[in-house]
Amino acid sequence: MKFSCPLTSELLRKMRNSSKLLKSKRPCNMITVTDAGTGMDEDIIKNLFVTFFTTKEKGIGLGLASAQKIIEAHHGETWIESTLDSGTAVGIILPSRSKVI
Ligand SMILES: Nc1ncnc2c1ncn2[C@@H]1O[C@H](COP(=O)(O)OP(=O)(O)O)[C@@H](O)[C@H]1O
Ligand SMILES: [Mg+2]
Repeated sequence: MKFSCPLTSELLRKMRNSSKLLKSKRPCNMITVTDAGTGMDEDIIKNLFVTFFTTKEKGIGLGLASAQKIIEAHHGETWIESTLDSGTAVGIILPSRSKVI
């Protein structure tokens, strides 16, 4: 699949090359969300999932930390691709249920 957005394309390339879930051939669901915001530098990306890490004056730093914990609890993967002053792409892969209930 071709995407005109370079950030999304790069995120998908990394997911395709390195995702354990995609390699496992288990049925999965995947979503990506890309923004054209501030992007992040290496120091922010490194701390992104650390509980209470925030760069905002009134931030709490629980958004990404808790989202990742929930995704992990469902045996999923979280992927980030970000370029400072350009934007951020987030990818989530979750295994599908093996049985329909
Ligand atoms: N889409 C994004 N673009 C730029 N920076 C982001 C983005 N999402 C998260 N961040 C950075 O990660 C930090 C932690 O995010 P989050 O866990 O949602 O907590 P909070 O929003 O309370 O700061 C933010 O303060 C911000 O620096
Ligand atoms: Mg937030």
